Amino acid sequence: MAKREQWGSRVGFILAAIGSAVGLGNIWRFPYTVAKNGGGAFLIPYLVALFTAGIPLLILEFGLGHKMRTSAPGIFGRLNKRWQKLGWWQTAIAFVITVYYVAIIGWALSYVIFSLDLSWGIDTADFFKHAYLKRTASPFDFDGIRLGGLIPLIIVWGINYIVLAFGIKGGIEKANKIFMPILFASIIIITIRGLTLPGAFNGLDYLFKPDFSKILEGRVWVAAYGQIFYSLSICFGIMLAYSSYLPKKSDIVNNAFITAFGNCSFSIIAGIAVFSILGNMALSSGKTVEAVAEGGIGLAFIVFPEAINGLPNFRELFGALFFLCLFFAGLSSSMSIIEATVSAVIDKFNMHRLKALSIICGVGFVVSVVFVTGAGVYVLDIVDHFVNNYGVAIAGLIEALLIGWFFNVRSIRNYVNPLSDFGVGNWWELCIKLVTPLILGIMVVLKVIDDIKQPYEGYPIAALLVYGVGVIVLTVVLGLILSSVKGSKTYELALDEGVKNNEF
Ligand code: ALA
Repeated sequence: MAKREQWGSRVGFILAAIGSAVGLGNIWRFPYTVAKNGGGAFLIPYLVALFTAGIPLLILEFGLGHKMRTSAPGIFGRLNKRWQKLGWWQTAIAFVITVYYVAIIGWALSYVIFSLDLSWGIDTADFFKHAYLKRTASPFDFDGIRLGGLIPLIIVWGINYIVLAFGIKGGIEKANKIFMPILFASIIIITIRGLTLPGAFNGLDYLFKPDFSKILEGRVWVAAYGQIFYSLSICFGIMLAYSSYLPKKSDIVNNAFITAFGNCSFSIIAGIAVFSILGNMALSSGKTVEAVAEGGIGLAFIVFPEAINGLPNFRELFGALFFLCLFFAGLSSSMSIIEATVSAVIDKFNMHRLKALSIICGVGFVVSVVFVTGAGVYVLDIVDHFVNNYGVAIAGLIEALLIGWFFNVRSIRNYVNPLSDFGVGNWWELCIKLVTPLILGIMVVLKVIDDIKQPYEGYPIAALLVYGVGVIVLTVVLGLILSSVKGSKTYELALDEGVKNNEF
């Protein structure tokens, strides 16, 4: 078996981990989630979620990956042979996230070009929905492939393929060393420009003004935990794969803290940037900030172009910078999500990197074409809702339950502490055993109640069942199939040997 690849330096690993965490979620999900859930007061549940679930799980995943030096299926399979299924399920979830995530990065790339002459015109919603996506009227009416989405999609898959083909140190690490400084520099320029616009402080006032009554609402806490999980790229195999490439002598706990703080700082900066610009837009259009604020796809591709139209100067340049920022944030995350699946295939079948990569990118590309059809944006929205709220949350719940209750979690703590600049205490075990599973359990139940009471975004039930529930079921089936297929001799042997006496 070939020697496992490694990161070239601690900085390289940290940049890649932050690159994975900082993604579309930080730019279009975080600002809106804060504003809608109590503004400044939301930062309380957000920080609690960070310290009681985000960081503990990140430490757990870094520790598991570092010790086992293999990807999610092999890691869980060695803790207990039957748990390999969880690893493959997480990998299947990562694959589903990849296929739609790449499509959005493709849209961002198109919008970099559109910025150059503000092609979106005055009616940005009409441009996005009708001129660009050529959206049909129903999630089941595909009406062919849209070339405007297909070309950037091919480019984004191509970039990912090339970077990952060069492996961990020569590909992912190098790319992040270029992408991350560009990303941070661009968001800082955007923020400074945003803050100097008239009306910026009305936007910030709306974003941060605390509404403490919201803290009493269960759903606000659910939103905080949901945001942390997706944003930190935990529970879908990514951080397990990334940490499996750490050299033997590597810090765990401090690296997890640095990654988490790097990610959250970026989110706060992105929030300030987005809302100062929305504040300006509200002022110039004579509306309230609340009336112009939106999240997700609508924020990036409809509201932002409109906000750019209203800027006093350098509109084209500013637009290109914003969409480049979205593009690089997305790209560094997509590399990690694809790597989670590629490493799982390499590890199980002892396959050559290029072969595994070609299979994953080939199949992934074909599947992602659905998102550049006339119904693509509907399918994407539904898949994203279900995979995040159910897939990642339930996978995280099972991960914490199995390790907290059916494995000696103390032995993991004893493993990571001597390696780290500073160690973790009883609080960490308590979070893995109790807090994380409890909150995730409540989160899933509340979401089910919400979704039953009010079908997500008013989509037809059939579409929610097929693209939402159906895709989740498909990931489970895929996970079961992949864990039942025989792997290479070394892989199966490692599973058979497992971890002796439930100890690390
Ligand atoms: N962590 C990535 C994001 O926030 C997936 O978009």
